[in-house]
Amino acid sequence: MSISLMSRVSRRPACRLLALSLSSLLLAACGGEEQATPAATPPPAAEVETAAATPDTPKGLDYAFYKEAVEPIFLRNRGGFVGSDTSCVACHTSQANAPLGLQPLTLEDGNAFWTEEQSQQNFANVAMLVNPSDPASSRLLLAPLAPTAGGERHSGGIFWDSPDHSEYRVMAEWITTGSPDAGAESIVDLDFDFFRSCVQPVFVNPIENAMPCAECHSGEFAVEPPEGSYWTMEQSQQAFEDLVYLVDPGRPDSSRFLHKPLHPNAGGDLMHNGGRRWFSPDDPERQALAAWVSGEARGSECPAPLQYDFPPRP
Ligand code: HEC
Ligand code: HEC
Repeated sequence: MSISLMSRVSRRPACRLLALSLSSLLLAACGGEEQATPAATPPPAAEVETAAATPDTPKGLDYAFYKEAVEPIFLRNRGGFVGSDTSCVACHTSQANAPLGLQPLTLEDGNAFWTEEQSQQNFANVAMLVNPSDPASSRLLLAPLAPTAGGERHSGGIFWDSPDHSEYRVMAEWITTGSPDAGAESIVDLDFDFFRSCVQPVFVNPIENAMPCAECHSGEFAVEPPEGSYWTMEQSQQAFEDLVYLVDPGRPDSSRFLHKPLHPNAGGDLMHNGGRRWFSPDDPERQALAAWVSGEARGSECPAPLQYDFPPRP
């Protein structure tokens, strides 16, 4: 299966990708022209051919393989509108802001597709979720996989009962095209002290024209503190666990926590039944929270935008 896939991919025309910058500005140069590859000693012709399959892309991953075999999986119609009957793209566009960050599809003459440029952006975003040095640990493989088969909890539901699923195998095969020493993005760990001292009060303090989050989310991350006192340690821990689920550590802009309450005109989610708390991504409160999501803000000293008097400090 995987072998036939590889040969299918390598039969494609000699398109070369030239990575211009890390921010995934990719140029496809197709045709007969050879791209000069800086190398100390020119490799023999046979090796040049092999190198063409792994150009200078994020993590050295094969773009042609991605485009032909992996990206269609994200689009696949699964027959329904709920959970794992839904296509990945239905939940995973950059507007919905779940990790994976697929581009919203381009619509033209009744067709929905990704342009070349969009595919390249997708490729760069998806690459962030894979670990060529240890493919099976890739977030891309763990989310859709059943927890009973070693997968992880995924709001989108279970797509694969085991690693034998054809989609799993195609993606795993693609990940191995990456450079073996390219790893996963380092895991940012969110600081609990900062959450308890500086983040949690945001949920119970309204701003002008906007209800506090606790008005609607008190069953989850925005639990109310006990009358007249601060949250118990246990309450804070529970709220922290609930919120972590809405955060993409290290990536504030793809964290639903910071995206939902941001006004759509400022790049926020198109829909939030709870109204908006921030009208610009640069809102000082949002920035202070973003610093926490980035792993930078730690400890129990709160920066100015996060100093609230309610509830009373322990
Ligand atoms: C019904 C909506 C929905 C569908 C369909 C869906 N997802 Fe998700 N997915 C989510 C949400 C929401 C998150 C963020 C919260 C979480 O991790 O569960 C997520 C998270 C992820 C993550 C990141 C996990 C991590 O490590 O943080 C990956 C990777 C992923 N999904 C891949 C997929 C793939 C691949 C498909 C299609 C086979 C898919 N998803 C289908 C909603 C969905
Ligand atoms: C008036 C009620 C209300 C208020 C106030 C409110 N929300 Fe929401 N929120 C909702 C509802 C309803 C949903 C689910 C539907 C949707 O996404 O709009 C939601 C969804 C969300 C989600 C996505 C949850 C998921 O599982 O994907 C996040 C994150 C979120 N809200 C954060 C906040 C934050 C942070 C605040 C305070 C700044 C807040 N909300 C205030 C009603 C509210």
